[in-house]
Amino acid sequence: MNTLTMQRPDDWHVHLRDGSALAAVAKFTAARFGRAIVMPNLEPAITSTALAAAYRERILAALPAMNEPAGRRFEPLMTLYLTDTLAAQEIDRAKASGFVHGVKLYPAGATTHSDAGVTDIRHVYPTLARMEELGMPLLVHGETPGPEIDVFDREAHFIDAVLAPLLERFRRLKVVFEHVTTARAVDFVRAARGGVAATITPQHLLHNRNAIFSGGIRPHYYCLPILKREADRQALLDAATSGNPRFFLGTDSAPHERAAKESACGCAGMFTAHAAIELYAEAFEQAGRLDRLEGFAAHFGADFYGLARHDEIITLTKEPWVPPVSYDFGAGALVPYRGGESVAWRLEPAARA
Ligand code: NCD
Ligand code: ZN
Repeated sequence: MNTLTMQRPDDWHVHLRDGSALAAVAKFTAARFGRAIVMPNLEPAITSTALAAAYRERILAALPAMNEPAGRRFEPLMTLYLTDTLAAQEIDRAKASGFVHGVKLYPAGATTHSDAGVTDIRHVYPTLARMEELGMPLLVHGETPGPEIDVFDREAHFIDAVLAPLLERFRRLKVVFEHVTTARAVDFVRAARGGVAATITPQHLLHNRNAIFSGGIRPHYYCLPILKREADRQALLDAATSGNPRFFLGTDSAPHERAAKESACGCAGMFTAHAAIELYAEAFEQAGRLDRLEGFAAHFGADFYGLARHDEIITLTKEPWVPPVSYDFGAGALVPYRGGESVAWRLEPAARA
C-alpha cells in the first residue's frame, strides 16, 4: 500500500506552549490534525476558564491562515489544570464555555511544570463529583511521583494507589488514562468499566527504553512516562492496532529548547508534532495494521469526547523524507524527533480550493 487516505485525525494530547514557542510549534499540529486537546501545564498553569479562553485566543492568533480549502480551521480543545483548590463551580463555567473539554490531573511533582498539581486526590473529590455530574472528562498523568518509587514502576503504582479506587468511587466519571506506557496499563484499560479510555504516543509505539541509552545517553528520547520494556511496547502496539475504541491517538508532543534537553538535568519531553501522523503510520505498518489507523487516529477519540468526526480527508504517501536536525524555537532551537533521519510516510499537502 503506497498511499493511505483517511478522515482527518485529531491529537488528543499535545503541549503547544506559549509565546514564541507556541508560534514555532502550533503550525505543525494544525497542519495535520483538525483538533487537539491542549495541555494546560504552562507557567503559571491554566487553572480557570478565563485563562483557558485567553490561551485559546493566543493559539488561534499564532496560526497562519491555512492554505487549504475554505472553512478548515484548526480547533484547540482546551483543558484546565486541576489543583488542590480548583473549585467545583469552575467546572460549571468550564462546561458552559463550550471550549473546555477536559480537566488534567498531574500528581504534584510527576513531570514538567507539575508543581501546582494535586498533592492528595482526596482534596479534589468535590470537584471530581461535579465533573462526573456534568460529563467533564478527567485526563490523568498516571504516575506516582516520589523518590521511593522506581521510575519504571510509577504507572503501575498509580493504577493501584489512585486510579482503580477513583474509578470505583466515581462510577460515571469519564477518564482518559493519558500516554499509557505499560502492558499493565493496557490490561487495566481493557478491563475497566465503561467511560475509561487511554491515549498512546508515537514514541512508545516505536521505541523501548534501550533508545535512551543506545551508544550513550540520549536526552531527546527522554520523556515522561519514560520509555519501557520491549514487551510493553508490543502490548501498546497490540492495543493501538486492535480496533478497540478505548485506545486512541495522543502524541504528547512536548517541545523544549535544545539547551534544556541537552543538560546535566535535562527536561522530559519529546517533540513529534512535525511528523506525528506519519510516525503513527510507521508503527501501524510495522504491525501490518495500516487499515486500523483511521479508527485510532480519527474516530475513537472524537467518539469518546462526544464530538463529530471530520468530513475532510488527508492522504499519506509511502515516500521517505528527512526532518531537519533543528527547528527555530523562539530565541533558541528545537531538536525534533527523527531529525536528520528518515521518516517513511509523508503527508500530502492539502488540495487547493
Ligand atoms: C511534558 C512536558 O514537557 O510538558 N513532558 C513529557 O515528557 N511528556 C509533560 C508531560 O506530559 O508529562
Ligand atoms: Zn503530556
